[in-house]
Amino acid sequence: MEFGVFLLLICAPSFTSTLQVQDPWTPNITDLTFKNTDFAMNLYRKIADHHDDNIFFSPLSVSTAFVTLSLAARNSTYSEILSGLNLDMLDQTGQLEIIPQLFQYLHGNISQDGALKLEQGTSLFVDLHFHVEKAFSDQIKQFFDAHIENVDFGNAEMSKEIINKHVRRKTGDKVKELVTSIEPLTRMMLINTIFFQGAWESPFDPDSTKMSRFYVDKYNIVQVQMMLISDSFYISTDEELKTKVLRLPYLGGAAMLIVLPDSHIDYTLIDDEINAERFLHWIKNMKKKKLEVHLPKFNLEQSYPMHNILPAIGIQDVFRDTANFTGLSQEPGLKVSQVLHKAVIEVNEKGTVAAAATSVGFTPYSLPTTFIVNRPFFFFIYHEATNSLLFMGRMVDPTQK
Ligand SMILES: *[C@@H]1O[C@H](CO)[C@@H](O)[C@H](O)[C@H]1NC(C)=O
Ligand SMILES: *[C@@H]1O[C@H](CO)[C@@H](O)[C@H](O)[C@H]1NC(C)=O
Ligand SMILES: *[C@@H]1O[C@H](CO)[C@@H](O)[C@H](O)[C@H]1NC(C)=O
Ligand SMILES: *[C@@H]1O[C@H](CO)[C@@H](O)[C@H](O)[C@H]1NC(C)=O
Repeated sequence: MEFGVFLLLICAPSFTSTLQVQDPWTPNITDLTFKNTDFAMNLYRKIADHHDDNIFFSPLSVSTAFVTLSLAARNSTYSEILSGLNLDMLDQTGQLEIIPQLFQYLHGNISQDGALKLEQGTSLFVDLHFHVEKAFSDQIKQFFDAHIENVDFGNAEMSKEIINKHVRRKTGDKVKELVTSIEPLTRMMLINTIFFQGAWESPFDPDSTKMSRFYVDKYNIVQVQMMLISDSFYISTDEELKTKVLRLPYLGGAAMLIVLPDSHIDYTLIDDEINAERFLHWIKNMKKKKLEVHLPKFNLEQSYPMHNILPAIGIQDVFRDTANFTGLSQEPGLKVSQVLHKAVIEVNEKGTVAAAATSVGFTPYSLPTTFIVNRPFFFFIYHEATNSLLFMGRMVDPTQK
């Protein structure tokens, strides 16, 4: 059973908007997911700039939360959000609602397969004394099925408890204390949660799991619980990046893509090379192969103060006194004070007993017969029908959460 949770939190407020009318090109979901993937890689690089540790986050949650927020933003506050999310190109149509609508469609497409347990939700907590424009709350309901609730931020303890309780419920109890303190001037919090639970199409046999070495770097070797499975899987080789790519499917239309640099390659060299085009290239050029896969069990729990990271990709105005959120309220001075993102994942053997994949396709000669994940690797959890990236991570040391 595999299992990820993410959680995103934005405190605050304010907003405006400016749109340019150009050609009648209408972007579709394919265009959206491509842009989203490049945003994910940009965000990943900014997170990776801050440290060398394990990384795990949900780019889709960050985009969804900010697209929600963009509905209240005006002028440069609006355009910065869109260009930061890499969505400005899609906005050139002059159709104001095209981006929220695409997100709505995307969400519909992803949640269409009942076997895939993916729940995404956006919630807005607004101070009791704060008047939210009805047009804004209507739009959020329409596109994001958002939950809106008044809380008394003057009573920090009580509002914290209300919000954390909401988050616990939305994440199946996986994210317990998201909010640790509430600043006195907080007027609004926007919270986006995503909860994913996937069962491997071919589960690993727990009896085959053994302690084994994982080479964190030249000097550090740790012992991990290494899972083992022999089956047919899709695999490809990226000769240029000197990495191998393996797809481990879940039941219900999602998959994990594992990107493993060759042992003599420094994984950080790959950071600059991953983008949407490469990602699509990897998944489109896979061949099925009988394979022995060794993959460490791991748990990750990562939190990121996005308010410190997003300015690096150009989303700055929302955090400043100059923020224009007049779409949310006519009352001036609203800004976002905090954006917390927390993601949790557990990777282990489990899954429902699925019929083993049987058909073995052509086997290109250069592909290996074993895939041993015993050194730092990247992983991507994505929805296959739309190629939409749900989560992304880098595992450097599986013994660290
Ligand atoms: C915010 O944007 C709106 C709409 O563009 C504009 O009319 C208003 O003057 C702006 N307010 C501030 C404070 O920048
Ligand atoms: C989306 O539009 C592009 C052209 O912009 C096209 O190539 C692609 O097939 C379309 N995808 C879908 C799912 O309609
Ligand atoms: C906001 O945008 C409107 C419309 O484009 C423009 O007229 C106005 O000057 C802008 N306001 C600010 C404060 O930038
Ligand atoms: C999937 O996306 C298409 C647009 O590409 C949309 O028309 C359709 O309604 C979506 N499906 C669901 C179930 O939302």
